[in-house]
Amino acid sequence: MAHHTGFTIWFTGLSGAGKTTLGKKIQKILLKRGMNVELLDGDVVRTNLSKGLGFSKEDRDTNIRRIGFVSSLLARNNTVCIAAAISPYQSIRDEVRNMHANFVEVYTECSIEKLEERDTKGLYAKARAGEIKGFTGIDDPYEAPESPEVTVHTEGEGIDESVDKIIRYLELKGLAPAADDGGISSEEEEQIKGRLKSLNFID
Ligand code: ADX
Repeated sequence: MAHHTGFTIWFTGLSGAGKTTLGKKIQKILLKRGMNVELLDGDVVRTNLSKGLGFSKEDRDTNIRRIGFVSSLLARNNTVCIAAAISPYQSIRDEVRNMHANFVEVYTECSIEKLEERDTKGLYAKARAGEIKGFTGIDDPYEAPESPEVTVHTEGEGIDESVDKIIRYLELKGLAPAADDGGISSEEEEQIKGRLKSLNFID
């Protein structure tokens, strides 16, 4: 089925802008529609695949190249790969894009003022105090995407609005089946439930 072809959704944006939150929501929706979905989250990847890497440009580039390499392997094997890492440099994002047949770059746009106000992990305060050096958006660069497939304004719009925007784009491009496509057998439904369970999305 054409619908089940893999591709990569690449979230980019500052820390705390909503990449992981949106990535998880999109993952859940696509799993429910019967697709194979994997989430590669920067914070998680850095505890295994990229363990030991820091935040110099070189290390960030290595981190992004690794995530891009894995996502390209998954995408060519009928899996939707969702990557959620700051990925601050345009040239490396382009490099990763070029490894893919289908690549959807999603820019989670949010002002630094708002991120500092929220500061969910307390990292912006530490960066301002000089306790963390080279923090993206404070004293380290972030290059906003030049032509992302989707931009979500996580400052002004609600999470559901951003999610809808991304899903509508995927449907429009024929990358994801519409929710009301139907045609799922009870056997398939059980399989999907099992997968959601194993990912701790449902009990
Ligand atoms: S990336 O630049 O290589 O794409 P990645 O998304 O994997 O970054 O990791 C970013 C996360 O690491 C942030 O959300 C934050 O929790 C943590 N972090 C620690 N130090 C820094 C730093 N100097 N700059 C940005 N994020 C940092």
